[in-house]
Amino acid sequence: MPEPLVYLNGEFLPYADARIPVEDRGMQFADGVYEVVRYYLGRPFRMADHLARLVRSAEGIELPLPPLDLIEQAMNQLVERQGMSEATVYLQITRGPAPRLHGLIDHPTPTVIAIARPASTTRPRPTLRVVTASDDRWARCYLKTTMLLPNALARERARRLGADDAIFLRDGFVMEATSSNVFLVRQGRLLTSPLTNYILAGITRGVVLELAAQIGIPVSEEPIPAHWLYQADEVFLTGTNTELGPIISVDSRSVGTGQPGAIYQRLLEAFDALTRASQPLSVRSG
Ligand code: PDD
Repeated sequence: MPEPLVYLNGEFLPYADARIPVEDRGMQFADGVYEVVRYYLGRPFRMADHLARLVRSAEGIELPLPPLDLIEQAMNQLVERQGMSEATVYLQITRGPAPRLHGLIDHPTPTVIAIARPASTTRPRPTLRVVTASDDRWARCYLKTTMLLPNALARERARRLGADDAIFLRDGFVMEATSSNVFLVRQGRLLTSPLTNYILAGITRGVVLELAAQIGIPVSEEPIPAHWLYQADEVFLTGTNTELGPIISVDSRSVGTGQPGAIYQRLLEAFDALTRASQPLSVRSG
């Protein structure tokens, strides 16, 4: 696989030529926001929702954004220029270069970076084992910032325990996984944690809630005590990369039958139909 093309501040560059200054605030302070957009059959999925969340994240850290149409074009062009069909585009926008001082700078020149990589198309989707982890992130997890060290450390801890991911618990309640949201099936109902400042409002989470409503699965967004993870009939993750990822064990205890569950399968079928549809507009944008 050749190195991907990099979009950097208005230019499309070979990977090795894309450089940023050492005092970029993204580097020095993790002072930036990001988005991850999935392309299906060469078309972006839920681009408008990703851009709306990007705006919320940027406002949350007082970062002025370049025009959204330029950002959108840059991502689309990366995919087109490289002739990609199934791709994931990572977009990062930092506050740009400045002498290293803690306070914000008055007129920043944001650094805009985007890279497209082929998306995983492994079928069936890999089953996942997860562990629980105490959520030691900050209190503004609803902002999609590049400050991901707690997520990375929790993911690594999971790996060392022989698992694929970690589910963050805060005060005894389920928050989200390190790069996905969490769903449970309990007593015939689909449950997911409510949107608070402690979790990211996942685009895929929103799509799954809409699909569940469409196909008549009862849903509740409510606080989920950690021990429900052990009692659930089904548990799965949702995210732009993960799509819908079936969890077969939590802290080494089997979930349900130890296989992807029936409600998961129905939702996955609906999700695949939606993302493969020639007009992916059958579900209202959330
Ligand atoms: N992660 N929660 C967290 C902490 C996330 O980082 C993500 C996305 C999600 C799911 O959001 P969405 O459905 O909009 O992708 C939930 C991206 C994919 C990442 O960091 O790679």
